[in-house]
Amino acid sequence: MARALRVALALLFSIPAWAEGPQPPRSGIEFQSADVRAMQADDFANPATLWVDRGAALWKSPRGERNVSCAACHGDAEKSMKGVAARYPAYVESLGRVADVEQRINACVVDNQKAPALPWESQDLLSLSAYVAKQSRGMPVAVRIDTAASDFERGRRIYFERQGQLNLACTHCHDASWGRTIYAERVSQGQPVDWPAYRLEWQAVGSLERRLRACYFGVRAEMPPFGARDLVALELYLANRAQGLASMAPGVRR
Ligand code: HEC
Ligand code: HEC
Repeated sequence: MARALRVALALLFSIPAWAEGPQPPRSGIEFQSADVRAMQADDFANPATLWVDRGAALWKSPRGERNVSCAACHGDAEKSMKGVAARYPAYVESLGRVADVEQRINACVVDNQKAPALPWESQDLLSLSAYVAKQSRGMPVAVRIDTAASDFERGRRIYFERQGQLNLACTHCHDASWGRTIYAERVSQGQPVDWPAYRLEWQAVGSLERRLRACYFGVRAEMPPFGARDLVALELYLANRAQGLASMAPGVRR
């Protein structure tokens, strides 16, 4: 009895106060078929490796009016970018707002390289974000919400809000129905790990924003534009829901 109580208490306190959503959080890869899981597990089979390689080359290429490379300031990405993606979205002082990894990279492209922002879902931006995200492989999601409280609340509100012609909220699928099959797909907990990811359906790597837009489309709701505050706020809410879950980006999904 005493032992059962101790175990129960240990479990209770091992769940941090901020934990929301299913406990323990489970990565979306667990809900994918065996062939997709095998593709993600093997860099030679994972098509996203092409984007990572391209990102590694871009990292060293000078760009913009300043003609400087990312490496000129940040050095070896394997060291300087280790754990960075796991902390995003985050409040960025120089932007005065919460940004996701793609927006943080673009802030450097614009402010530090003095080059035009890389367009959303462009090969250059996806390659750089895949390369940066890879440096956090196996590291647990660890976002801060104290410096981004209003965006966090915004993301949480949207997560529970019914949307579109199907009148469904994120929570209806990703909390109430995970593990079930909808539209021939096994629904996961909607965790944001492993992104950017190669989707077989897209035949390409895409950002988490693109994935979220696909969920809006799925319920026949108007999709927020790329970079919209609502999408970044949702990413932050999802990341907080996933605290402690390891990301294996860039991943593979159906
Ligand atoms: C009608 C059900 C449905 C609704 C509502 C829905 N999604 Fe999804 N979502 C899916 C399906 C199906 C997938 C692909 C399979 C999977 O990974 O769950 C998916 C995938 C995802 C993923 C990628 C998970 C991974 O590991 O690749 C995230 C993140 C996500 N959804 C977040 C959201 C958010 C945020 C909302 C609300 C704006 C939302 N979804 C609304 C069905 C839904
Ligand atoms: C002229 C120098 C310079 C260049 C060139 C530059 N950056 Fe940065 N970058 C910075 C500074 C300064 C910061 C902010 C310092 C910090 O927050 O650690 C930063 C921050 C970042 C961050 C967030 C780090 C964190 O810990 O939150 C990322 C990601 C990043 N840069 C990626 C890139 C990429 C990708 C490129 C090339 C496309 C690039 N940077 C080019 C100077 C530069």
